[in-house]
Amino acid sequence: MEPLIKNICCIGAGYVGGPTMAVIADNCPQIKINVVDVNEDRINAWNSEDLSRLPIYEPGLNEIIKRTRSKNLFFSCDIKSAIKSAEMVFISVNTPTKKKGIGAGEASDLKYVEACARQVAKYASGHTIVIEKSTLPVRTAEVIKSILEEYQVYSANNNIDVTFDVLSNPEFLSEGSAIDDLEKPDRVLIGGQNDFAIEALSQIYSNWVPKSKILHTNIWSSELAKLTSNAFLAQRVSSINAIGALCEATGANVKEVARAIGTDSRIGSRFLDSGPGFGGSCFKKDILNLVYLSRHFGLNEVANFWEVVVSLNNWHQHRISKLVVKNLFGTVTGKKICILGFAFKANTNDTRESAAINICKDLIEEGAVLFIHDPKVNPDQIAKDLSTEESKNIKNKEYENLSSHEGSWCFEQNIYDAANNADAVIILTEWEQYVNINWDQVSKRMRQPAWVFDSRSIIRSKDVLNANLKLWKVGDGTN
Ligand code: NAD
Ligand code: UGA
Repeated sequence: MEPLIKNICCIGAGYVGGPTMAVIADNCPQIKINVVDVNEDRINAWNSEDLSRLPIYEPGLNEIIKRTRSKNLFFSCDIKSAIKSAEMVFISVNTPTKKKGIGAGEASDLKYVEACARQVAKYASGHTIVIEKSTLPVRTAEVIKSILEEYQVYSANNNIDVTFDVLSNPEFLSEGSAIDDLEKPDRVLIGGQNDFAIEALSQIYSNWVPKSKILHTNIWSSELAKLTSNAFLAQRVSSINAIGALCEATGANVKEVARAIGTDSRIGSRFLDSGPGFGGSCFKKDILNLVYLSRHFGLNEVANFWEVVVSLNNWHQHRISKLVVKNLFGTVTGKKICILGFAFKANTNDTRESAAINICKDLIEEGAVLFIHDPKVNPDQIAKDLSTEESKNIKNKEYENLSSHEGSWCFEQNIYDAANNADAVIILTEWEQYVNINWDQVSKRMRQPAWVFDSRSIIRSKDVLNANLKLWKVGDGTN
């Protein structure tokens, strides 16, 4: 069948734009895709010869980039010509929480989306289908539409042949499993009215997604479904973390409780892992957006209900830092603490809203000296997140000298070196390589009595306890 769309532009080469377009390019060799971004460094990184330097780490992504880049997938900063030649434009830019003005701290900042709509209006030619891929507040399509329509009227008056359709097509990928999620999505959601636009987008996905999984809704349902899917998932994490705290207090084990709950097929077993609190760029932002929307429509009880999901998450993260301090005899000042994992989850280099940020900041505030390890996160990113430079001169110093480095941190590439003379090891990300740590070796290097705090509950208790280490595991009241 002749493809309805042969040329796509994606604005935003981030965690969504990059992997999503790579998977479309891989499954639709007949379509040419230009991914564009204002961030030149990011575009250069997408174009780097050395695939380990791509701006995003996702299992399976390198292989797809190798197959598609410079064949039918291109990364550039030339936004104008990419829009001009495209029949379909995906908007995949960031939609952070507003920092100031009306709705500050809750509503999404739509300035990047609006800028995209204006760019599309300015540079498009012929008929262009605009796809909202970013996660947006309900009724944002209206904003995009009105900007485009305004231009359409101007174009008609000036004999310029430009027309637009807008669809909502939210993305449901999770970082760390983005390629799998994109290859085998539970569903693809397309919200909109125009039959041709819907058919054109459905045709692209049907190159690899079964038709039964491509759902059509109205545009507002699609926008709301995306926000509420994230809210439901985050709500499960807050629920299980709340129960975890209760387990610790009562001698129960949250893993056993979660297993018992999750085997009820009405509840299901996924998203019931207690951890250090949810992170990532979207859960908090999208729930706050939902809270803002609910308040805007006078639904205060609805807003309060969802707000608690976020406040419980904040409480839980600070609860973990407090219990570390309490167990280390009430003070961590000048003590060395080894932090394992800084990414917000395993298999990604993304640290946005990572629980590690709050927990590390709390411990630094208490005067601890943190030695941080993560297999994929760059130390420069950690410095940005912690708002303090790395104190590289801590390394190689004798333990006794650490007191002069109170409230600082450094990056350590070797897990065992990071544990040298430490009073505690805290696991914050569930990286596979932390599961099989040799706790005997770690214990010999630590200052006794030494603690292991496992906020992901991934290590074998027996191995840690046999190595003469004290252990706290999230949600486990059985020790
Ligand atoms: P990101 O910050 O990684 O990438 C966004 C990119 O857009 C940046 O590189 C930025 O430079 C670029 N950009 C911003 N304004 C631009 C403009 N006017 N022209 C060109 N480029 C511009 O963000 P992300 O994680 O990819 O998220 C994008 C959207 O997708 C958000 O709305 C998010 O909520 C949603 N989403 C994210 C995920 C995820 O797992 N990260 C999953 C589903 C949905
Ligand atoms: C989440 C959703 O899962 C995606 O469907 C959605 O597309 C995306 O948000 C988005 O809109 O950005 P993501 O944030 O990448 O994906 O990662 P998740 O796997 O959802 O994890 C979020 C946080 O919850 C992580 O910190 C993770 O460690 C934590 N989590 C998750 C738990 O603590 N326990 C669990 O059982 C599951």
